[in-house]
Amino acid sequence: MKFMKTELKKVDSSHIDEMVMEEAAAIIRSGGLVAFPTETVYGLGADALNARASERIYEAKGRPSDNPLIVHVAEFTDMEQIAADMPPEARMLADAFWPGPLTMIVRKNDRVPRETTGGMDTVAVRMPSHPVALELIRRSGGYIAAPSANTSGRPSPTLAEHVAEDMDGRIPMILDGGPVGIGIESTIVDLTEEIPMVLRPGYITPEMLREVIGEVRIDPGIIASDSGQRPKAPGMKYKHYAPRADMILIDGEEERVIEKINALAREAEASGKRVGIIATDETRTRYGVGEVVCIGARQDEDAIARHLYRILRQFDHMEVDVIYSESFATPRIGQAIMNRLLKAAGHQVITV
Ligand code: TXA
Ligand code: MG
Repeated sequence: MKFMKTELKKVDSSHIDEMVMEEAAAIIRSGGLVAFPTETVYGLGADALNARASERIYEAKGRPSDNPLIVHVAEFTDMEQIAADMPPEARMLADAFWPGPLTMIVRKNDRVPRETTGGMDTVAVRMPSHPVALELIRRSGGYIAAPSANTSGRPSPTLAEHVAEDMDGRIPMILDGGPVGIGIESTIVDLTEEIPMVLRPGYITPEMLREVIGEVRIDPGIIASDSGQRPKAPGMKYKHYAPRADMILIDGEEERVIEKINALAREAEASGKRVGIIATDETRTRYGVGEVVCIGARQDEDAIARHLYRILRQFDHMEVDVIYSESFATPRIGQAIMNRLLKAAGHQVITV
């Protein structure tokens, strides 16, 4: 891949700089790539209706080309323009959750090239709520294909600095809107089936979807830890979100978890390994060894989601060899958090 200079431009969400946005939009309109903030994670954007532009995303990320991209819109009517048919649930869910962290899958029409959808005849569509994202979409022609702006397999970026780590020299521009608000990727719901199905858990929970559209199923492939179930979203099958170190989750009653992590950490250090530990406000002082990083208060699931990917990247910088993490099956978005942790850990869990 040819090296190019990457410009990092700050944008303040409450006073969006028109000149910067126009420069960014011009890059997208001419088929180039711009990384930009959304409320979930940073996205790597290209013109979704331009096949060559979408291909550039796969090149920059090193992403397998069978893994489809999410098309970002700024108007509900723009979704109707690229869908072959619109199930009634799409309107209901858009009214309830758009703009916001929900992606809906519908059948696509011919305006969307197969390069954007990884060869599939369906398309995933989301209207983000971040003002910088909305402004960029509007100025770029209405349709921005954007996966998370990380190198394929690395933790998703929640800061512009994370994007720079992975994309410097590969894309012409990064819009820096500061830290994202949510920190894990959008919920994905497939509306092409008889009963809508959640393919990726996120901030919008199945319960919230059910309140709006009734029955909703959950793809068994996203919770199963060891079954042969294949997730329906192609991207969910890869070991993903992964730090460089080997990661192991410890699950069970708090006291026993602390005891087990201390024992494992001592053992690993004795064999010459650098150890990282993911702890909470409540437990951080209980670990006697290793690099202890605190993810937030156990009850504050929003904070846990917001800090997760940053911490995984932090351990890469600390060059730890093994990470032991407490587990966080919190009531609301706990499933989404555990889904990411399990993938980062390659499903290595010790139950105590
Ligand atoms: O929050 C988000 O959704 C972020 C921000 C940037 O908007 N984007 C994001 O994109 O997470 P990405 O590419 O990292 O994840 C998209 C996921 C992948 O697992 C992909 O396989 C799945 O969505 N997907 C996309 N289109 C699909 C389709 N037509 N059918 C099934 N799965 C699809
Ligand atoms: Mg991703």
